[in-house]
Order: sequence, then structure tokens, then C-alpha cells
Amino acid sequence: MDIAVKFQSTATEPHPVYGYKAFHLGAFTFERDEYFAHIHWSTAEEKPASHTMDIGDFLRALMRDVGWGFFYGWVNFDDVFGTTNHYKTIDVFAGTYNGAYKKANVDLLQNFPTEEVRVTFVDILENWTNAGFDPYAAPQETGTPYGRKNGDNLSAVRRVRQLADRCVGLKDDLGMRTDSAGYPINRAFADVPQDPPELHPEPGFENEVHAFNLFAYLSRSDVVWNPSFTSVVKHSYMCPTTEEHKLPIIHGNDRVEWFFQMCDEITWDCGDKLTAEPRARVVMKAGDMAAMPADCRHQGFSPKRSMLLVWENGSPQVVYDIQEGRAPINPVSF
Ligand code: PHB
Ligand code: FE
Repeated sequence: MDIAVKFQSTATEPHPVYGYKAFHLGAFTFERDEYFAHIHWSTAEEKPASHTMDIGDFLRALMRDVGWGFFYGWVNFDDVFGTTNHYKTIDVFAGTYNGAYKKANVDLLQNFPTEEVRVTFVDILENWTNAGFDPYAAPQETGTPYGRKNGDNLSAVRRVRQLADRCVGLKDDLGMRTDSAGYPINRAFADVPQDPPELHPEPGFENEVHAFNLFAYLSRSDVVWNPSFTSVVKHSYMCPTTEEHKLPIIHGNDRVEWFFQMCDEITWDCGDKLTAEPRARVVMKAGDMAAMPADCRHQGFSPKRSMLLVWENGSPQVVYDIQEGRAPINPVSF
């Protein structure tokens, strides 16, 4: 017999001064004050350990982890704390993928059913995000994450993907946002031409053949570091996104992914997935392509809002093919 397990987060009463609740997940405790998130745990030797992050950095990372359903592989909030997606369960860890923490034996990793982590992280995000702060927005385009509890921003933190019913722009598609009723052009993309592409469908196929200006579409994106699924062909996902400031997570791959820099420039720090040891700095200028191998972690820095196409392999099998040596870690060998 199947017994449905319902999870609820374990929140405390709000802090008497700061106004935020504290949360427990297994052996981890999460607290926030005016500037910081504090994560507490006990080491294998039962010694108390803790880690502190700037609350803006923490909430931007938490928003991606929740919004992307724990993403592919590792979502490192920084070099210490993060999650690993096993697609039915989630590891929550502190120090496990940091060579120095591991050596000092102060790390902890616990595995949970995905739903248990999800409800806890959603509750933290909703309780700790104040009115006026949108964790998906570029830092210059939103209010401050700091201070005592001041309302909430549920419409921002509950943002879900807008789904297209047909190819974006075809008649009856409601997900269209390149028309005048859509989103305004971002300040950084004021020079991006908005002309639609020329189309010459055979008579009778006007409602079947379509194209849209992807640059125009992206110029109107109101968030950063949040790839959309613009084309899905079997497990090949083309995920363009607009980037400004830094990728709020350090992504550790469990598969290969490709980047195509569509305009402007992003610098990537790439490191070892398991230890955080630095491996490469990759400077990507408009037109450059790069592949992130399945054993790296990476974080991008975009000084000016730029356009990036992330090409993902969404196969549920490929991660096990790589682990068992049937598929390569590096997509190309020179
Ligand atoms: C990535 O981890 O590869 C990634 C995530 C979000 C982005 C861009 C790249 O917006
Ligand atoms: Fe990545």
C-alpha cells in the first residue's frame, strides 16, 4: 500500500528583534538577521559548526534552487553550502565539496526526500524575502534584501515560467512577449533591433510556419540568470537567458552543457566539482562557444547585461551513462 508522506517545514516563532523565523532540516538549522543567513550543523565528531552568507547572495541562490527544482547536479550557494539533485532525493551539504573543509573534518551531508527539502526551502524563501526585494532581478533593478522583517514579496518568489501554447508568436499562443503588450525593453538592450524576421510561408501554411526575433525576445527579459526553454527537441534544450552581475549559484555539472555567448561578455570561474580547486578562467566574448565538462563547477560574471544561450542535455539517463563510463566527461577530445 502506498502511503503518501506529507512534509511540513519546522519553523520557529519569529525572532523577537529581527522578525524572521528559524528553520530546521535534519541536522541543519537556518537563521537570518538583518544582513546574514547563518547555517548551523554538527560535525561527525558532534562539534558545533556554522557558516554565514550575505542574505542577498543566499536568497538569490535559494530562489534558483527552488525555482529550478534543484537543477542538474550540484547547486552550490557558495564554496561551502549547497544541494545535489539525485532526482528523487536531495543531498543538503555543508563543506562536503570543499577540499579544506573536508580535510578539517567539519563537513556534513544529509539526504532527504525532494519534497521535504522543497517545502522547507520555499518556507525560508517566503519568510526571509522582504517587500521590494526580488531575488530573480538584477541587483540594480530591485530593492534591498537587508534589514528587519518588512512584509513579503510572494508574487516575486512564487514566479513560475510562462508557458507558450504553440511556437512563440503563432496565433493563439499566449506566452508571446515580443509584442507591444509584452515586457518593456531592458535599459541595457535599448540598441537591440526589434524587427521581426521575414517570413514567406506557402499559401495555406501561414498558421504553421513561424519565426521570431530571439534578440528582441531576450531584450525584454525582466530577470537575470533564469534560462527559458525556447526549443525542446527530445532531450536537447535550448535555454537562452539574460545575465547581469554574477550567477547566484556555483553550478556543479552531472552532465556536459554548452554555452553560446550571444552578445557582450561573461567571464567564468571554473573549478573542480568535488574540491572547489580552481581549474580555468574562461572569458567569453560575443560569438564564443564553450562546453562545461561533466566534472566541473562554474560561476559566471557579467559586468553588463548580456545574452547567453545554454544548451542542456535533459536526458534522465545521461548522468548514469557518464558515471558508468558509457558517455564522456569531456564532449570533445583534442
Ligand atoms: C549554468 O549553471 O550553467 C547556468 C545557470 C543559469 C544561467 C546560466 C548558466 O542563467
Ligand atoms: Fe551550469
